[in-house]
Amino acid sequence: MPSTAHVPVMVTEAMEALKARPGGQYVDCTLGAGGHARAILERIQPDGRLLGIDVDAAAVEMAQHTLAAYGGAVVLAQGNFSELGCICERHGFRSNDGILFDLGVSSMQLDTAERGFSFQREAPLDMRFDTTSEPNAADIVNTYSEQEIAHILWEYGEERYSRHIAHRIVQQRPILSTSRLAHLVQQVLGSRRGRIHPATRTFMALRIAVNRELESLKLALDQTASLLRAGGRLVVISYHSLEDRIVKQFMRAGAANHAFLLTTRKVIRPTSLECSSNPRSRSARLRIAERLA
Ligand SMILES: C[S@@+](CC[C@H](N)C(=O)[O-])C[C@H]1O[C@@H](n2cnc3c(N)ncnc32)[C@H](O)[C@@H]1O
Repeated sequence: MPSTAHVPVMVTEAMEALKARPGGQYVDCTLGAGGHARAILERIQPDGRLLGIDVDAAAVEMAQHTLAAYGGAVVLAQGNFSELGCICERHGFRSNDGILFDLGVSSMQLDTAERGFSFQREAPLDMRFDTTSEPNAADIVNTYSEQEIAHILWEYGEERYSRHIAHRIVQQRPILSTSRLAHLVQQVLGSRRGRIHPATRTFMALRIAVNRELESLKLALDQTASLLRAGGRLVVISYHSLEDRIVKQFMRAGAANHAFLLTTRKVIRPTSLECSSNPRSRSARLRIAERLA
């Protein structure tokens, strides 16, 4: 069972960015533990509506309980935000005042050992947000070529020792558990990693590959303009430089073709107070774009 509650990141900044207001209609594309969803629901009463989406069925199931008090103001949907347009259409959220993405993995997922996201917990190598999708992390580690694995570690994890790690993985497979992989990476890197655990980058890279996170994000962003009314806000919180680059380029291109207005060209970072109280927020970057008529 999960041990830590997920603390939502940059909630105040995200609510201001969304301009969440009574009677408004919003879409939370990454429901997670429902922290941002709850903050939106608190601000849109009375008569506001929220569509909460997550690809992880466990997150949606939990939100059914935690957000039950908001009754008909909240509609929950299990689905991949790469299909955002269809999901919104199906639930009657065609023209919205705001769309929020809070990307990546939740503490709930990290802390549920059997999901295989954490190198600190013994479990089968899985890492899927959607437990019905393919491949899982074990498939990648045990069936992809050495070059493909090295490419994933280099591209998504910016892992300097990607080739060494990929070589060792291929020599020692099958590798079926999180702890076996973490141990193997530790053996390759020795004490070269300073304060972060040697396996951090490898695990993050595999997670991004397993869930096709960058592809899904690009597909989703492309659908946002047609789902926002004029003046509606797109707000994205990302935790990885590659994600942030995709968001930045999307918003700049949207501004260039007059689909969006950039209310601030600068990225918004969490306060130092938040960074010290919630370490997960340290890498967060929030960007805003406003839909033009
Ligand atoms: C950082 S958590 C969100 C936390 C949430 N904002 C809160 O306050 O509790 C990210 C969530 O996005 C979900 N997610 C990631 N990729 C997704 C996708 N392509 N489609 C839908 N949900 C996705 C994950 O399953 C995870 O629950």
